[in-house]
Amino acid sequence: MAEAAKLELEGKVYEIPVIVGTEQEKGLDISRLKATTDYITVDPGYANTGSCLSAITYIDGEKGILRYRGYDIAELCEKSTFMEVCYLLIYGELPTPEQYTKFKDKVLRHSLIHEDMKSFFTSYPGHAHPMAILSAMVCSLSVYHPELLAPDPSPEEMDETITRLLSKVRVLAAFAYKRSVGEAFVYTRPKLDYLSNFLHMMFTTPMEQYETDEVIRKALDVLFILHADHEQNCSTSTVRMVGSSKANLFASISAGICALWGPLHGGANQAVIEMLEAIAADGGNYKKYIDKAKDKNDPFKLMGFGHRIYKNYDPRARIIKKYCDDVLGKLGIHDPILEIAKGLEEVALTDPYFIERKLYPNVDFYSGILYRAMNIPTNMFTVMFALGRLPGWIAHWKEMIEEPGMRIARPRQIYTGAPLRKFIPFNQRGTYAEP
Ligand code: CMC
Repeated sequence: MAEAAKLELEGKVYEIPVIVGTEQEKGLDISRLKATTDYITVDPGYANTGSCLSAITYIDGEKGILRYRGYDIAELCEKSTFMEVCYLLIYGELPTPEQYTKFKDKVLRHSLIHEDMKSFFTSYPGHAHPMAILSAMVCSLSVYHPELLAPDPSPEEMDETITRLLSKVRVLAAFAYKRSVGEAFVYTRPKLDYLSNFLHMMFTTPMEQYETDEVIRKALDVLFILHADHEQNCSTSTVRMVGSSKANLFASISAGICALWGPLHGGANQAVIEMLEAIAADGGNYKKYIDKAKDKNDPFKLMGFGHRIYKNYDPRARIIKKYCDDVLGKLGIHDPILEIAKGLEEVALTDPYFIERKLYPNVDFYSGILYRAMNIPTNMFTVMFALGRLPGWIAHWKEMIEEPGMRIARPRQIYTGAPLRKFIPFNQRGTYAEP
């Protein structure tokens, strides 16, 4: 039911249109607020701000629902593949067999990077964080594809850029890893699928060919599907923000990778394992860390807990937790960190601090345990998140670029600094305390 809210300001009443989404979510359309009232809205952290209308992903944080293009995440994990989900997110529908073959072939064909780029990797110090390298390399791809930088790309140019990115980013990620361990770069093999090729580029050495383990490949497929999109999160909003200036896709994704790196966002998966290892080294005393997380004078937070949107168990965490048990069982791995994570969760979920604030494990709480089981090193965890999130970033960039009447993203502010003052000449400024 279309309705309008009424806003009373300085004795005048204004009508604010209400926008209703597919699932009856409601928003106030304030796009004409400044023009009609001279007021703006203030919302630090954008917790109440809808930055766009989007047909890609639906989340109900109260009920713990996550759907891509209308499909439930659990069903996609069970019945689909990451490649198919990439297509679904980017193009809006599950591919027909013909579309799928064409898409897969195109992605496979673009898996080489310019040979000159290999020297970029070796110029970084061995300890460089792979997220720094990945972001720089993705932006550098633009240099090699000047034909794909048009501010208003044709559908063909758009497809070309999208498939190149999907293919090359996993190559860049694997090369960053190889650089960090001082091993030779490995190229893709035409017969392998998208994820098997990634594992091959990561773990094949001149001495030993990596043979894909089906348990690991399936677990990676599920992890990437679960990370593939999450509507207007920090990194996706960054991709949209940068892309709204009509910066090219490579530059926009590179910015998204930087946004993902932070420990409050994708960097949390690395922070979780470091936290669990610290707890293990400290004798496995969870209670002490729960108390630290509750102490407002202690900056410590329980990493992998809490979410801006989910006020219920994160559906992704539920699936990953189950996979941890299955995969570690099948691979015959006993990881004491998994026991610590489960113990920590159990204590937190019965503690009034976490109950009152509706803090539950999020996607990052258990994912690192699966990555460890695959021999992915801890500093690569956020890179893995980036590889999974790539189709979501691309889908949002494409949706935004194709939106008729798209405008540059440019929030406003309320200024709280000094009023107009007279300039003080250099020699009349006196002394002041060092900050
Ligand atoms: N440990 C302890 N207290 C917490 C935590 C936590 N992990 N998360 C939130 N709180 C408290 C917070 O201090 C606040 O308490 P109070 O009301 O007394 O001031 C209350 O819960 C509400 O939290 P908030 O800071 O308003 O929540 P937010 O929506 O601004 O932040 C968050 C969400 C995910 C950044 C935050 O929960 C957090 O820092 N979690 C740890 C980092 C993490 O796991 N990040 C991954 C997020 S999921 C994947 C992704 O986005 O990449």
